[in-house]
Amino acid sequence: MKIALGSDHGGFELKQILIPCLQELGVDIESVGCHDSSSVDYPDFAEKVCSFVRTGACELGILICGTGIGMSIAANRHREIRAALCHEAFTARMSREHNNANVLCLGGRVIGPEMACEIVRTWVQTEFSGGRHQRRLDMLS
Ligand code: RB5
Repeated sequence: MKIALGSDHGGFELKQILIPCLQELGVDIESVGCHDSSSVDYPDFAEKVCSFVRTGACELGILICGTGIGMSIAANRHREIRAALCHEAFTARMSREHNNANVLCLGGRVIGPEMACEIVRTWVQTEFSGGRHQRRLDMLS
């Protein structure tokens, strides 16, 4: 599986921590930056990750900013993107099973490395349930 990964400066540190976690899961990472902790604008990175997902170049995307809020607002403005901001594993699992979330947003200043890895592991390994959930997603398009 290929995942587009991006952050702003507020998510940079957690993004770097998540790279080995994703590699352990066998994920192929398309990294869009940012590349250090200099101040940048989160919509730019949301745009890059969402483009990879929308074109099908990547199956899923992960976006990290300080709170995850800016990234989730930005990502959900893109058509066909269903971005879920998650702070624990249960909502991460449900965002895949029920919402077919194709972008995961995390808050680098909100959750620690262990929780972040648990969320990512759960999110990547959970499949969409389809059925009545697909009908509800169709109502959103
Ligand atoms: C950057 O300071 C911060 O505002 C950003 O990372 C994010 O938390 C926005 O929602």
